[in-house]
Amino acid sequence: MKEKYFTYKTLDDVRKDVNELGVDITFEEKLEAVRRQVTIAGRKIGNSLAIHPMEGCDGTLDGRPDELTYRRWERFGGGGAKLIWGEATAVVHEGRANPCQLFLSEENLSDFEKLLNGARRKHKEVNGTTDDLMIGLQLTHSGRYSYPRPIIAYHHPQVDAVTYADKAKGLKVTPDYPTVTDSYLEELEDSFVDAAKMAAKIGFDFIDIKQCHTYLLNELLGARTRPGKYGGSFENRTRLVRNILGKIKDELGNRIILASRINAFDGVPFYEEPETKAGRPLPYEIPYEYSFGIKKDNPLDYDLTEVMEFVRMMIGSGVQLLNVSLGSPYYNMHLGRPFDRPPVDGYYSPEHPLIGVARHFKVTEEIQKAFPELPVMGTGYSWLQKYLVNAAESNIRRGRVSIVGVGRNAIAYPNYVNDLFATGELESKKVCYGVSYCTNLMRSKHNELGQYPAGCAPRDPVYGEIYKESLRAAKKKDGGK
Ligand SMILES: Cc1cc2nc3c(=O)[nH]c(=O)nc-3n(C[C@H](O)[C@H](O)[C@H](O)COP(=O)(O)O)c2cc1C
Repeated sequence: MKEKYFTYKTLDDVRKDVNELGVDITFEEKLEAVRRQVTIAGRKIGNSLAIHPMEGCDGTLDGRPDELTYRRWERFGGGGAKLIWGEATAVVHEGRANPCQLFLSEENLSDFEKLLNGARRKHKEVNGTTDDLMIGLQLTHSGRYSYPRPIIAYHHPQVDAVTYADKAKGLKVTPDYPTVTDSYLEELEDSFVDAAKMAAKIGFDFIDIKQCHTYLLNELLGARTRPGKYGGSFENRTRLVRNILGKIKDELGNRIILASRINAFDGVPFYEEPETKAGRPLPYEIPYEYSFGIKKDNPLDYDLTEVMEFVRMMIGSGVQLLNVSLGSPYYNMHLGRPFDRPPVDGYYSPEHPLIGVARHFKVTEEIQKAFPELPVMGTGYSWLQKYLVNAAESNIRRGRVSIVGVGRNAIAYPNYVNDLFATGELESKKVCYGVSYCTNLMRSKHNELGQYPAGCAPRDPVYGEIYKESLRAAKKKDGGK
C-alpha cells in the first residue's frame, strides 16, 4: 500500500515505471493527433479531446440545473474541448442517485435548454465557433444506487452484501428484497424515449443511454440469473437497451445522434482490508455467474467476447458514438478512476495506478480495433496528470482510441484544451492529482439537502469552501469527535 504513486518530475520518470511494470502505455511528445478532427455520424468535431460526464450533484430538489451546474457547464463550454459529454441525468425521479441529481422532464426542459445554450455561448465567445462542437446528455436510471431506495435487476451475492436497502438504519439488501419487475422495465423504455425526445427538442447533439458504472442498465447486462424476458440469455439481458434504441430511432430518426457509455468490465466488489487499508476482493465462487465483461473462471480479469457482440448489436441499433469505461464507483473504484489517495468510502489502491490506466487503454483499444469505423472515446487518463496529453497523442496515433476524454481533470482544469493548444503543455499546478476530494464531496450528505455539491476542492476555491463546510458538518454530526 502506497500513499503516493505519482512522484514524477519528467515524462522519462513515468516511462521508467511503465517499463518496470511492463504495461502498454506509450507517450508522444510532439502533439499533433490530439488536434485532429473526428467524424461522428457524418459531422466533424474540431479536435480529439473531450470532457467526460461529470455530475456535480448540484441540481435543485426537483432536478433543475442550479447555479453551480450552470457554472460548470460554462467552464466546460469555454475550455476548448470539442466534445462535451453532459452528465448523468435521470429519466425518472425514483432513479436519481442523489437528491440533487439532474432530472429531465417537461417542467424542467427550458432550464436544460438554458444550460446547453450557456455552454455553447461560452464556447463561441472563447473559441469562435460552435459548428465543430458537440454536446450530449447522459440519460440514466441509477438502479441499485437510486437514493429513494435501491432498484435492483437481480440478486448478486457479493454486491448485495455491500448495498444498503436503508443506509440510515444500516440495513443491507437481503435475499428477499424485491427485484425490479418486467412491467416497470417496460415502462422505463418509454421514459428513456421521452427523455430522448426532450433532449432532441432543445438541441442536444447526442444522447447517451448510460450503461456503465453498475447502474440499472449496466446491471441488467450481467443479469444471467434473472428470470423472465430481461434476464438470462444475451438476447434478454440486452432487450431493454435494444428496445430503447429502436423506439428512439422510430420516433426521432436521425434528429439526434445515439451514443452509449458502457462498462466493458464490471469486476468484483473490493473491500478495505482493516490492517493494510488496501483494497481486497470480496470472496467469490467459481464459476462467477454475475456481472458483465468478466471471465467466469477468474472474475478479476476481463473477457470481451460478449462485450464485442454487444457493441455490434448496438451499432446495429443505431449507436454511432461509444464511450468505454470500467468498474463501479461504489465497490471497486480503482478500476474506473485510478487514484493516489482513496475516497472516504474506498481503500488504498490494490495495484499501481499505472496498471489501472493501462487496463483502460487496452480494453478500449481492443474495442476500437474491432470496430475501426466507430468513434470510441476512452477513459482513465486523469491519473497521468500533465502527461495525459502525451498518452492521448500516442493512443490516437496508434489507433487505440478516436477521442480522449478526461473526467476529474476537467473539473480541476476545465480550460485544459485551450491551455494545451496555446502553450503546448498542461500546467502542473492546474491538473487533477488524484486525491479523491471530488468523490468525498459526492459522498457528503450532512446538510439540509442531504447532498453536497461535488467539484475540485484543491483546485477550485469555490469547492475548497464547500469542502471545509462539509467537514464541519460531518464533525458536528459526530458530536465534535
Ligand atoms: C465527481 C464525479 C462525477 C462523475 N459523474 C459521472 C457521470 O455523471 N456520469 C458518468 O458516466 N461518469 C461520471 N463520473 C466518472 C467520470 O466520468 C470518469 O469516468 C472517471 O472520473 C475516470 O476518468 P478520469 O480518470 O479522467 O477522471 C464521475 C466521476 C466523478 C469523480
